[in-house]
Amino acid sequence: MPLASDLVTSPIAILSALPQEQRGLMELLQRPRKVIHASRDFWLGDLHGQPVVLALSKIGKVAAATTTTALIERFGVLRIVFTGVAGGLGHGVKVGDVVVATDFVQHDLDASPLFPRYQVPLYGKTRFHCDAVLSALLFEASCHALAHESRMAHGFAGACVHQGLIASGDRFVSGADESRRLRDLMARAGHDVLAVEMEGAAVAQVCMDYGVPFAVMRTISDRADDSAHIDFPSFVDAVASRYARVVIERFLSKL
Ligand code: ADE
Repeated sequence: MPLASDLVTSPIAILSALPQEQRGLMELLQRPRKVIHASRDFWLGDLHGQPVVLALSKIGKVAAATTTTALIERFGVLRIVFTGVAGGLGHGVKVGDVVVATDFVQHDLDASPLFPRYQVPLYGKTRFHCDAVLSALLFEASCHALAHESRMAHGFAGACVHQGLIASGDRFVSGADESRRLRDLMARAGHDVLAVEMEGAAVAQVCMDYGVPFAVMRTISDRADDSAHIDFPSFVDAVASRYARVVIERFLSKL
């Protein structure tokens, strides 16, 4: 458990997967300084008077684990927040909605019959939990942003914020049959998945290893169906950066 004085002085990390998702935050960053480490650009500076490090996880679980480890080991961050996009998997999780994660599971992890399907070997765990306090703040910030930012919700009538399980795997899920199969298979194993992406569970596992609290918000860019590969890039370019910026501004102002 970090001391309160450490939380004031150590930067909070804000992770995004892609440059397009980070762009809005970069525009707000005060006193930006770039540090290159582990073949990555880390941007130090202030957002809303708080010291922050902005970083890209890149795509996939291994890349995300490297960035997360570097943030903790090299930059001494004691809290990590991830903003990005995800494919909607759960019933009623629509493009334009936001999902704030409660916990993560790796949908492509299968060391059976040595270990139960989805369990992370030698951890004795299948799900990795997000920090309740940071997640509650992120949930509030997401609700506030959707309610008060008409430009944000523009084009997504009835957009709402969900809270629940996200599944990560090293695969872009882009087929209606595949996403239905994945949802049903996981539900049968007791995992009711709201959304699918490619990094969160790795960030969660590294954060658990180091005892670093973290929280994740993902805007739904596609339904992981046959048009996911078309919806994803246009959403990321047009909308994701704005969502991240508005939600993180509110989140930091309440921290
Ligand atoms: N991130 C955004 N959409 C996704 C999808 N359909 N599959 C995996 N990761 C995603």
